[in-house]
Amino acid sequence: MSLSLSAEQPDEPADADDGVWLECIECGDTFAPFDDVRYTCDECDGLLEVRYAELPTFDDFDGHGVWRYADALPFAEGVSIQEGATPLYEVPRLEDEIGVEALRIKHEGMNPTGSFKDRGMTVGVRVAKELGVGRLACASTGNTSAALAAYGSRGGMETLVLLPAGKVAAGKIAQASLHGARILEVDGNFDACLDIVQELANQGEAYLLNSLNPFRLEGQKTIGLEILEGFLADYDAVPDRIVLPVGNAGNTSALYKAFRELVQAGELDEDDVPKLTGVQAEGAAPMVEAIENDADEVRRWDDVETRATAIRIGNPVNAPKALPGIRETGGTAVAVSDEEITEAQRDIAGEGIGVEPASAASIAGLRKLRAEGVVDDDERVACLTTGHLLKDPDAAAAAGSEPEPVPADTDGVLEQLSE
Ligand code: F0G
Repeated sequence: MSLSLSAEQPDEPADADDGVWLECIECGDTFAPFDDVRYTCDECDGLLEVRYAELPTFDDFDGHGVWRYADALPFAEGVSIQEGATPLYEVPRLEDEIGVEALRIKHEGMNPTGSFKDRGMTVGVRVAKELGVGRLACASTGNTSAALAAYGSRGGMETLVLLPAGKVAAGKIAQASLHGARILEVDGNFDACLDIVQELANQGEAYLLNSLNPFRLEGQKTIGLEILEGFLADYDAVPDRIVLPVGNAGNTSALYKAFRELVQAGELDEDDVPKLTGVQAEGAAPMVEAIENDADEVRRWDDVETRATAIRIGNPVNAPKALPGIRETGGTAVAVSDEEITEAQRDIAGEGIGVEPASAASIAGLRKLRAEGVVDDDERVACLTTGHLLKDPDAAAAAGSEPEPVPADTDGVLEQLSE
């Protein structure tokens, strides 16, 4: 099975381009990477992965940010706005309260447009240029649209985004708008938007840059590489577990791929691979359902709801890549309530770190799994926070305290302070 941790490094097929090719994770068919536009397998419609004739070791990495990892990517450089190299914060109070050996927060909200999507776009837009496509497009719960708009404009390309009407946080729409995307608000949820964008892409109307696009996930692998390098520098060991919010399960798939490649390169022992632990909101938890039921496939949820709008997704398109990732690494998946998400968002803010609701799901999930004894007290854990607080100012204001009106004089202020 190609997605096993013990899979052998594949032989280079004749259709490889400079040691890079696409391979179907279901039937193993291979394709030239940049001759034609394709998102899934011609034969069986399975998901595709990028493969390399040569895999890098840690010593090959050089430089700063996503392109430090160029040897693990299809190009030496991309359409860049200096993405990656995000902080790996210590959070001593949370570490103490949750009760693990070490807890670090990898804050992807510190990327140029405020989310991890930038890592995927710097690669994806570079590939779009290689393919010579015209319009770039995505369906989005918000962050992908902001990143696509920014990287598309950086690359001088036209961008189109389809958003679920009324369900995208204000900061994200403002970004897509100012960076010049054409924004269509769809009377439907994210999954319906993605169905339409896939149709448009298949009809040749646009180049799809959702995480179904295998090149986007190559950029997102660098989250895992940075976390590992950070832990190796500080603890001389990789983390026992990485906890992350799950929507389309792109990051889960990308991190798993990063670890598989390190194992294949002889840089990481199979037994040391961090346990990938996915967190979803209770109202949008199809991956959790599949893990709990030991199911081979994920059931599409038609009705989804959560205040963590970024992960309000009922049909995680990368599930065939992510389910083996969770299972093979010995991880798990857990659902948390909106109240638990909000509480975690406040607690993370109490350490000086501002994240949007979906991001806080990682800490909420870790807290729950630690309380249930699934996570041990001797574990070193990295939690991924995927987007910045300012992405969703309404959620932040609702989770925070109310401003108090006072008169414009010191006595009035003192009186208010004495209450
Ligand atoms: N966290 C945030 C802040 C997100 O924006 C997303 C996905 C996820 C987590 C889920 O990541 O799909 O890799 O499991 N947002 C997409 C978007 C769907 O359109 O911005 P995943």
